[in-house]
Amino acid sequence: MTTAINIHGSGVFLLIVREEGKNSGTEVMQMYVLGVDVGTGGTRALIMNEQSRIVASAIEEHEAFVSPNIGWAEQRPEDWWRATKLAIRKALANGELRGEQISCVGFSGQMHGAVMLDNSGEVVRPALIWCDVRTEKQCKDLTERIGGELLIRLTCNRALPNFTLTKLLWTRENEPENWTRVRSIMLPKDYVRFRLTGERATDVADASGTLMLDVAKRDWSSEVLEAGQIDRSILPHLYESTEICGKISAAGAADTGLVVGTPVVAGAGDQAAGALGMGIARPGSVSATIGTSGVVFAATDCPALDPQGRLHTFCHAVPSRWHVMGVTQAAGLSLRWFRDRFMNGYIEDRRNPYEQLTAEASTVAAGADGLLWVPYLMGERTPHLDPNARGALIGLTASHTRAHVVRAIMEGVAFSLKDSFTIFHEMNVPVTSIRLGGGGARSILWRQIQADVYAHEVEVLEAEEGAAFGAAILAGVGAKIWPSADAACDSVVRVRDRVQPNDVSVPVMAANYAAYRRIYPAMKSIFCA
Ligand code: XUL
Repeated sequence: MTTAINIHGSGVFLLIVREEGKNSGTEVMQMYVLGVDVGTGGTRALIMNEQSRIVASAIEEHEAFVSPNIGWAEQRPEDWWRATKLAIRKALANGELRGEQISCVGFSGQMHGAVMLDNSGEVVRPALIWCDVRTEKQCKDLTERIGGELLIRLTCNRALPNFTLTKLLWTRENEPENWTRVRSIMLPKDYVRFRLTGERATDVADASGTLMLDVAKRDWSSEVLEAGQIDRSILPHLYESTEICGKISAAGAADTGLVVGTPVVAGAGDQAAGALGMGIARPGSVSATIGTSGVVFAATDCPALDPQGRLHTFCHAVPSRWHVMGVTQAAGLSLRWFRDRFMNGYIEDRRNPYEQLTAEASTVAAGADGLLWVPYLMGERTPHLDPNARGALIGLTASHTRAHVVRAIMEGVAFSLKDSFTIFHEMNVPVTSIRLGGGGARSILWRQIQADVYAHEVEVLEAEEGAAFGAAILAGVGAKIWPSADAACDSVVRVRDRVQPNDVSVPVMAANYAAYRRIYPAMKSIFCA
């Protein structure tokens, strides 16, 4: 039986489904929420119950991004929508659930992408996504027009080719025939929401990565819009991440199996949502996540500025809070690159090639006998903000083996994340605990390497389910399972294990980190003429 309850007279209706209890004829009320993460490789749909147990999830892969020129990266928004429809249907089927049982939907997604729509809501051209760095010229022009310092004061950030505004300016300059058709722009997850609800909405956390938000005021920046000649009417409406911003439409319901009128919260960019899922809501706890990219993320009570703009300062998915984060472009990607380019045919354990590689690497002592890896395979954001930076393997001798190289790669990625901790220290951002996420949390060796490189205890969580989990938590707040994002984190996130730094390895890592820091300045003149 299904009952609709008007939550606290708010106009938001909660659908309560009464199910037969396992024993006896008792009725139990169970609420479920759905988190949808529109990533780069695929879309994940995750269903959680009110006890914060994940009851089902499904992933549907995306078409790979296309790169018609070096530094370009484009994806078709319609493909994200195709993957979302399938992922939601599969997750409902995996959990043996019906659409009526979902009380609220939350979103997260790859940040910074520019989705451009015409007056009938059709996509004008493929989206320029987060790792597309073709806009160096537009960054330079915008910085000159506004002034570097003022730009940081207005948006809390420097103009980087990753950010949305620079992609819009590129389109206007290079494809005027496309630009004249643009009537609205949105971020990747917001396009999916648009297809589900018909609403043009975004949240302040994801909007922070557009370079059009006054991050301190949590509103679009009139000054930046004026300087970029962007009409405010093409931008989506802004919400806090936990706010309800729409309802599933008849078309959205027919496509996904969800039910018309199911409320939808604004959600957040994948980094803020993922951090929330790791309990990084208040200042003090910091996450270090190694996915394709690597991110060190801290929540703050006010917008903390790095005057050099090496970190991103964005609104958090928690109302009245902000965050700083440092980004390494090729973290997990470094190991994947090594495996794909050099290990084809040599991996014995086909099911888990990384386990074989890291088992080999753990036979080598900390410091990899002086071998150093610089992970700038895709240029670098923090700390260099240099799309032309190059990777390097430094200090090879005839004695070094494959195991040394793998260990050096894992240590080099940790050094690159340590750079963000070094900037946090300069900015007095507190670090009371460090929580690991992604592949860097799953690998026992990478956990120890990180504890030794950061010279700090690191924590591993019971459930580390990435951004879709954070999106589901935000939906849970929207459905009033928890009164706030803080309360949700307190009840959902539990530490499973703690890893202590090793007294012998810490000084070796400190010496290697000091050497690592000298490599980029020495190499810069070779690669970045
Ligand atoms: C964050 C960033 C990536 C993308 C892709 O600044 O660029 O995390 O959101 O996931």
